Amino acid sequence: MLRVMVLVSGGGTNLQAIIDAVEAGSVTNVKLVGVLSNNKTVKSLERARNAGIPAVSLSPKDFADRASFNDALLAKVDEFEPDLIVLAGFLVAIPEAMVHKYSNRIINIHPSLIPSFCGVGYYGLKVHEKALERGVKVTGATVHFVNEGMDEGPIIAQKAVAVEEDDTAEVLQRRVMEQAEWILLPKAIDDIANDRIQVVDGKVLKK
Ligand code: GRF
Repeated sequence: MLRVMVLVSGGGTNLQAIIDAVEAGSVTNVKLVGVLSNNKTVKSLERARNAGIPAVSLSPKDFADRASFNDALLAKVDEFEPDLIVLAGFLVAIPEAMVHKYSNRIINIHPSLIPSFCGVGYYGLKVHEKALERGVKVTGATVHFVNEGMDEGPIIAQKAVAVEEDDTAEVLQRRVMEQAEWILLPKAIDDIANDRIQVVDGKVLKK
């Protein structure tokens, strides 16, 4: 059983998709061992608790500086002894020490087709606003391993989603979630849990 910990900041619909997939048996060999949010009030913590998953919050605001928050974050994650850390809408930059300690064991979902609309400043609704501003006809989502760069790690899976002419950022965000994110992220976890992929020379290959 792969011990999976999920890190969240927002509503947690991706977290819910993972919980549902594990409960439905479409994701196997996975134990959801914990959920951590950087925000005390989010719906995600409720979703975790409803599913019987231990849920904790840890906010940078409660620490004197970023370095002490980073140390506490790593210590808290370590307590759960995860084999895989899933960033499901986690808006906090992952400390380098954590990236190194959990090398190729942290994955992230990003709501665009990387390398479009990613990197510093591209998070949440902003990603979709920028895609609409640019007038792209196709966008999508990407699941990737996390390395030291921002949205730069090896790509595990991508799925394209059509942009419609009258889309608002909110409408597009929802379509990307429904048609791509909620499918891709559980599938990637299942592939890792069932040992179907490997990282070779910075690229993800099927075994
Ligand atoms: C998703 O669009 C995810 O790709 C992005 O943040 C959003 C989180 O949504 N990184 P939710 O909290 O899973 O509902």
